[in-house]
Amino acid sequence: MSWNKTFKISGIVGTALCGVCLAKTCTKLVNNHNGAVCQAESSSAGEQSEKSQNMKGLTLKQVHVYFRHGARTPLHLIPGVEEVAYLKDMMLRTPPHFNFNYQVLLLPDLTPKQATSDFELHYKKTPLKGGGYAGNLTTYGEQQMFNLGLRLRRTYVDLHHFLTNEYQPEEVFVRSTNIDRTIASARCVMAGLFGKESLNKNGPVAIPVALTPDETLFPNAHVCSVVKKANHAAMIHYDKIPGIKEDREVIEKVLGYNGEKSLNFVFLRDDLIARTTHGYAIPEHIRPYMAMIEANATKILYYAMCGQHDAERPIVTRLSAGPALNIMMEGMNRMVQGQKTHKICLYSTHDSTTIALLEALDIFEGKWPPFAADICVELYQDAKGEHWVRTLYLDEEKTVRGCSGPVCRFTEFQKGLEPYVIARGAEFDKICGSQILEQIATTLVQHDSDEVETPEMEETSEIPAGM
Ligand SMILES: *[C@@H]1O[C@H](CO)[C@@H](O)[C@H](O)[C@H]1NC(C)=O
Ligand SMILES: *[C@@H]1O[C@H](CO)[C@@H](O)[C@H](O)[C@H]1NC(C)=O
Repeated sequence: MSWNKTFKISGIVGTALCGVCLAKTCTKLVNNHNGAVCQAESSSAGEQSEKSQNMKGLTLKQVHVYFRHGARTPLHLIPGVEEVAYLKDMMLRTPPHFNFNYQVLLLPDLTPKQATSDFELHYKKTPLKGGGYAGNLTTYGEQQMFNLGLRLRRTYVDLHHFLTNEYQPEEVFVRSTNIDRTIASARCVMAGLFGKESLNKNGPVAIPVALTPDETLFPNAHVCSVVKKANHAAMIHYDKIPGIKEDREVIEKVLGYNGEKSLNFVFLRDDLIARTTHGYAIPEHIRPYMAMIEANATKILYYAMCGQHDAERPIVTRLSAGPALNIMMEGMNRMVQGQKTHKICLYSTHDSTTIALLEALDIFEGKWPPFAADICVELYQDAKGEHWVRTLYLDEEKTVRGCSGPVCRFTEFQKGLEPYVIARGAEFDKICGSQILEQIATTLVQHDSDEVETPEMEETSEIPAGM
């Protein structure tokens, strides 16, 4: 895709922002609107909070939750290792209480989505032994997301009395990437949060998605060549990462593999984690190498999404995570400025998104974000009208960049994140099209700017969204 085309498209993706009602079609999302959204809350969150000691006198105003989809079938199978049958009728069926009326709408115009996404067409090329295909959210994965919804209900309905007991469309924004497992994950979170009856009564629930050129919710290698170069450097040229080649050769020997293409730790891990998550044993000969596969795969993913060298990390992370962070910052700013906005914003995403967000927030601890991993960012207001932010990862309070504790002044939070937040638009396109990686790291890492892209490499570029 040309940069010009990207630029034109990105000019209108602002309508994807949480709480921003710019599009005329926005009324579709707020059709049941029946009162002021930003009215003051009567309950005090602080008194009941079990976690932070510093919550007294703070009133919850808005919550943003980014989550990774739930457990799924593998995207990649390990050559020479017997495939697991994730039985379609048993493991890929949706329990009735996880389902309700919902509508997938295409941004920016919020027209009903018609076509199957390119990602899904790609996954369907890998049929699996059990009857499903690659990347299918499993029943267990649905349960994980439902459980996340239940947890959000306990916190934001029962504990904080923040959200209305019943689903109110004007309170909730739920956005997903345009992939079946993330859309299904968003659905299951909603089912846990409000229950099927309430969702059917006040629905249909709108789940906006974007086409790949407009996508802000994963590190978008399709529209940003800097992201793509960082991605290729780790996901294709991983042998150049010190230590990877030696370990790769070890594991290939263990697997008795001598195919033409070398094996990628990220793909090995993918098959193995799908097994362990769904209760299948790891083949005995691989078991002793699980820690090594995990460590090496995590390093490759981190480098792919956040850049390989310290010098390039801020810039790659900004381009990977910045557009997703921008959606949240816009929503928070609207709330702080007293404009009409949603109370809770849910973003159904991927491990690639999660790892980039964790790095941007400076809370990445070297662990692969598990299925259903969630980052919650809560906005509060105190009695003097000042705003505060509390961040949790996997339901644990975290001290993020720019903050001195888990509860942080909004102004500090905003200042800390500012270097990482970027909207899709002219500046984003300019940096994405620049030679910045080559400039800052010529001596450190070779990027494939002049490389001719093979179909196989192109497929690898799609992986950030696919994981
Ligand atoms: C999973 O597979 C089942 C059976 O093939 C299919 O009906 C369902 O739509 C798939 N779901 C997702 C989220 O991929
Ligand atoms: C790969 O895993 C091994 C074993 O955990 C570890 O010692 C090594 O540092 C890892 N390699 C890289 C490049 O992280």
